[in-house]
Amino acid sequence: MRKTLTGVFVIACAALVTVTVSAQREGGGGGGGRGGGGRGAAADVPAPSGPNYPAWAYAITPPGAAAPAEAPDTSVHHIPGTDRGFTVAQIADIRGPADWFPEDHPMMPPIVAVGRQPQVRSCSYCHYPNGKGRPSNGGVAGLPVSYILNTLNDFKNGVRKPGDPRKVNVNQMITFAKNLTPEEARSAAEYFASTPWTQWVRVVETKMVPKTNAEGSIFFKAKEGGMEPIGMRVIETPENDEQTEPLRNPRSGFVAYVPVGAIKKGEELVTKGGNGKTEACTVCHGPDLRGLGPVPGIAGRSPSYLARQLYDMQVGARHGEWTELMKPVVAKLTNEDMVYITAYVSSRPMPAAPGTKATN
Ligand code: HEC
Ligand code: HEC
Repeated sequence: MRKTLTGVFVIACAALVTVTVSAQREGGGGGGGRGGGGRGAAADVPAPSGPNYPAWAYAITPPGAAAPAEAPDTSVHHIPGTDRGFTVAQIADIRGPADWFPEDHPMMPPIVAVGRQPQVRSCSYCHYPNGKGRPSNGGVAGLPVSYILNTLNDFKNGVRKPGDPRKVNVNQMITFAKNLTPEEARSAAEYFASTPWTQWVRVVETKMVPKTNAEGSIFFKAKEGGMEPIGMRVIETPENDEQTEPLRNPRSGFVAYVPVGAIKKGEELVTKGGNGKTEACTVCHGPDLRGLGPVPGIAGRSPSYLARQLYDMQVGARHGEWTELMKPVVAKLTNEDMVYITAYVSSRPMPAAPGTKATN
């Protein structure tokens, strides 16, 4: 273990010396819409054309397919496990969303709980108060403090962008990272690092999946129902659509449908490197993939989020100093490899979340 960690640091130091980071100016930002997922993608930007592009990981809403605006719902809603009740406006308040289960997490610092208006939305709006987040953004709970600070800097310095430019909510994240003071960034990093990563995704191998529509970068079940072949995709969808949107229940996780046999094939790639196709992830991310020193944990996290990172790194949209270590890992990966790798990584069992039973 110690030898591995030293190895990581040696390679990392080499990377730090050899890579010069050019800070680029980021235009625009903002955009996106309800749900913090970037509903209504930029229609004028084409989809990436690379052969390895995992469209399933970005869940971009096709132009013109955005859901019609609904009449405002002013009723008070409830979810299982608490007597608290909130309106939809309170649940999705960017200045401090509903905190359904304050007992599930430590006390949030102000930047996480309410943000700093108008420049920085509350982190808890998109990443949830417990840091679990949705597949459209990602989980920040349980990541190392140094990693969080470093990646926030990468967003700020223009070296972490989406590999699919239509993923507008990453641009929002970039805007927040640019506007955070160092003190705010540190308090958020310390908070999320202190909140453990627990069970959130249930991976199921299957031939058929429910028909879904991408809304706000999340696949929700199609209203008309029906099933379709999974193909070479991972379809990550809420365990219960309503609990996720509009209720944002932070105890209601996701199910990831993966092709039959994907977990086993992924295990080969992740633990052995698949005969030179990639490198064994366990060397740097830890034998249980829950992170090692400054290297972030990947086990049990959103497969869509993970696959986006692999692709973003492969096409060079994410290229911070520490990303250097991932370059040889992602260089040769195809869409199929990303399906297998994320199926295995996301299926790793995690401790049960507060108020729930472990499912994997
Ligand atoms: C509007 C929604 C939104 C808000 C609000 C938001 N984020 Fe994010 N965050 C995102 C998205 C989108 C990503 C990147 C997803 C991707 O790369 O595909 C992200 C990624 C991150 C990551 C990288 C996670 C990783 O594993 O590398 C960190 C750290 C992070 N956010 C911290 C914060 C902090 C701190 C705040 C509050 C100051 C915040 N976020 C507020 C949407 C949001
Ligand atoms: C040589 C060390 C090394 C190996 C081997 C390695 N990683 Fe990484 N990985 C890293 C480092 C360091 C980072 C942080 C990169 C950054 O900050 O941009 C990272 C980041 C990631 C991320 C992004 C995490 C996040 O929260 O955004 C994913 C996903 C990932 N690795 C998956 C894998 C997979 C899958 C494998 C094996 C197929 C693998 N890694 C092998 C060192 C490694």
